[in-house]
Amino acid sequence: MNYQWYPGHMTKAKRMMQENIGLIDLVIELVDARIPLSSRNPDIDELGKNKARLILLNKSDLADAGANKLWMEYFRKKGFHVLEINAKSGQGLRAIQGMVREACKEKIERDRKRGIRNRPVRAIVVGIPNVGKSTFINSFAGKACTKTGNKPGVTKGKQWIRLNKELELLDTPGILWPKFESEEVGRNLALIGSMNDEILQMTELAADLIAYLLAHYKEALFERYQMNGEEQGDGYDTTPLAVLQHVCEVRKCYKKGQEADFEKAASIVMEDFRSGRIGRITLESP
Ligand code: G4P
Repeated sequence: MNYQWYPGHMTKAKRMMQENIGLIDLVIELVDARIPLSSRNPDIDELGKNKARLILLNKSDLADAGANKLWMEYFRKKGFHVLEINAKSGQGLRAIQGMVREACKEKIERDRKRGIRNRPVRAIVVGIPNVGKSTFINSFAGKACTKTGNKPGVTKGKQWIRLNKELELLDTPGILWPKFESEEVGRNLALIGSMNDEILQMTELAADLIAYLLAHYKEALFERYQMNGEEQGDGYDTTPLAVLQHVCEVRKCYKKGQEADFEKAASIVMEDFRSGRIGRITLESP
């Protein structure tokens, strides 16, 4: 499949980031815990060099708990500060403040030596579309905080959300675009639902997903679609199409004349996967 996505906007988003990066001490980068590499844009390392860096593995509730640990380790080894969070429920957010302090300790120390006190760390939240930036800003900032408005020395119109006396967030997240470096990256993004489904061939995508699940999460797949027990000899193990056929049967996906409706079954599998109903699944490993 040829993955195409989000034409335009990219230059504008990049410019916004470039304009703002000078004002920033800390880059908080959200990645999707199910595809931590495919959901990154490598440009961020260039843009954010010389800045303190914090990577948040978001949607960790949908990803494999064991894989989350491995990814944390992976990013730590690369020199990032890293945490796993669920921006939707708020889980993991409490640890962020301490991590910010840790990530910015050089800046804090520099300020202290120059006699500057109580200058909050300024952070921007960045990530690819749909990774959960708005959700994160809303839950992290909560209702308690106030927008500080324009300040001397800050470009007019920029709003900072003051979280507490130590931390301010730029209220507009930086949108990064994933790099389609390989077909695999494109497919991973399509699988988690970061692309317009209308332009994707759902059946093909679902077949790819099922092939992956058969290889890595067979039990969860079998459990979800009642494929356990005596039916295991029916070839489900080997072909995604056999699994889809089975989903047609158990979910009653038929066209007129009792013809199996593979497209419908494919949508069901994709939706089940994306909402975590098949289980906590990670699509790439470090
Ligand atoms: P963006 O600003 O980066 O584009 O992303 P946004 O916050 O709009 O989040 C995209 C979708 O991801 C939203 O779902 C949001 O609820 C969901 N989401 C964000 N963080 C998490 C998380 O940690 N775990 C889970 N499970 N979901 C998360 P939606 O379907 O667009 O909206 P809704 O149905 O949740 O209201």
